[in-house]
Amino acid sequence: MRLKNKSRNLTTIRCYPGRRCSFSVLLWSIVGCLVLLNLYCFIFEKDAPHGGAHLRINQHQHFRELEEVEEDNIQMPPPRKRSARAVKRKPKRPTTLIEEFLDEASQLRHVFFPGLRTAIDPCRSSGNDTYYYYPGRMWLDTEGNPIQAHGGGILHDQRTKMYYWYGEYKDGPTYHAHKKGAARVDVIGVGCYSSKDLWTWKNEGIVLAAEEHNETHDLYKLNVLERPKVIYNEKTGKYVMWMHIDDTNYTKALTGVAISDLPTGPFNYLYSKRPHGYESRDMTLFKDDDGVAYLVYSSEDNSELHIGPLNEEYMDVTQSMRRILVGQHREAPALFKHEGTYYMITSGCTGWAPNEALAHAAESIMGPWETIGNPCIGGNKVFRETTFFAQSTFVLPLPELHGSFIFMADRWNPADLKDSRYVWLPLRVSGPVDHPLEYNFGFPLWSRVSVYWHKRWRLPYRWQEIN
Ligand code: GAL
Repeated sequence: MRLKNKSRNLTTIRCYPGRRCSFSVLLWSIVGCLVLLNLYCFIFEKDAPHGGAHLRINQHQHFRELEEVEEDNIQMPPPRKRSARAVKRKPKRPTTLIEEFLDEASQLRHVFFPGLRTAIDPCRSSGNDTYYYYPGRMWLDTEGNPIQAHGGGILHDQRTKMYYWYGEYKDGPTYHAHKKGAARVDVIGVGCYSSKDLWTWKNEGIVLAAEEHNETHDLYKLNVLERPKVIYNEKTGKYVMWMHIDDTNYTKALTGVAISDLPTGPFNYLYSKRPHGYESRDMTLFKDDDGVAYLVYSSEDNSELHIGPLNEEYMDVTQSMRRILVGQHREAPALFKHEGTYYMITSGCTGWAPNEALAHAAESIMGPWETIGNPCIGGNKVFRETTFFAQSTFVLPLPELHGSFIFMADRWNPADLKDSRYVWLPLRVSGPVDHPLEYNFGFPLWSRVSVYWHKRWRLPYRWQEIN
């Protein structure tokens, strides 16, 4: 239940002369009632799936651990001596942590991209590390190879009771097609990994492969295939993949569609198009509780996002589309829902370089969407302003843990894209936003979305059974 700006009309209450009507007493009584009502709403809220009141102030040990605010201080390294040639080649020394992060030769390289020795290796875990996520470390699959599922998303398949992680398989050389072009890896395809515990991942292979020879094919290796997302269609029994398709210079701005009978592929590539006739770059899919699925994509030169429902088969968009976050220049959308409210995390548009994430909220998925601020908590200021040196790609619901999600982001390594890392962190929706919007008289309209920094963290013990 939410409070709307009902108090706006207060100024129209009339006091007639002769009657002892104190405007301020009336006003303060109404404000008092609203405060109490507001407090009540945020403490006790109807917990729809279970019925009964659900205590929002969560004392639960599990959530306390996830919500711990962990500081992290990375010191700038002392200035290093550089040869005259190096100075000439690249006159400016990195002066900020972001520049340091982007500098291949940085002394801090191991902080942002730790080596193989510290990799998360579920098959050789010592016990102390079992089920722990270490954001930014290498993460190995069950065969001991680094997971290749960048810009990815996860499908929880009801039929096999498995999680499937799909993403860009980037295990090739990084190069620049043009001097000023973005760093790239030729398209290899979409990688798929399966897991029961969200920690141990088995490589299911490339489920949609690049086209080696046919230059006119969307999946031709010199093109771009990014941010694949898969949802299941109950009506057709098909697994449907949508992805960003482009040419080397990102001028085509298309979405591609592929389908499969199995979550592990092979996916059959159908076609690409500009949805609703508009450019489409970074994109995601969201399947709502009623089975209606939506496509969200950056459009109009990435200056705004568009959102619209897919048709019943999930194979195309419908005519309906809304422009959202107009003029805000956001990309990398990751959408999720909690207690009937829609949330989205996006990034700014700075290519492979990290920037500040923003959370947005809406009562209706088609908008209006409101920006509620930077969700990142902990680390340090630079961490928070760079989304922990990463970019959003997906938010995975954990229905077993009320109000908890996994925030999935990519720590891109533009010098060697195949060595980009995964930053998975706990995301919680709880409590009111800390900066209430100006026009709502200080009453928070939305819950706070928080992504907590942890150097190392795990889901609660036997989290799949907690409910
Ligand atoms: C980012 C985008 C990535 C990739 C990159 C290329 O803005 O989110 O998915 O396209 O640009 O520079």
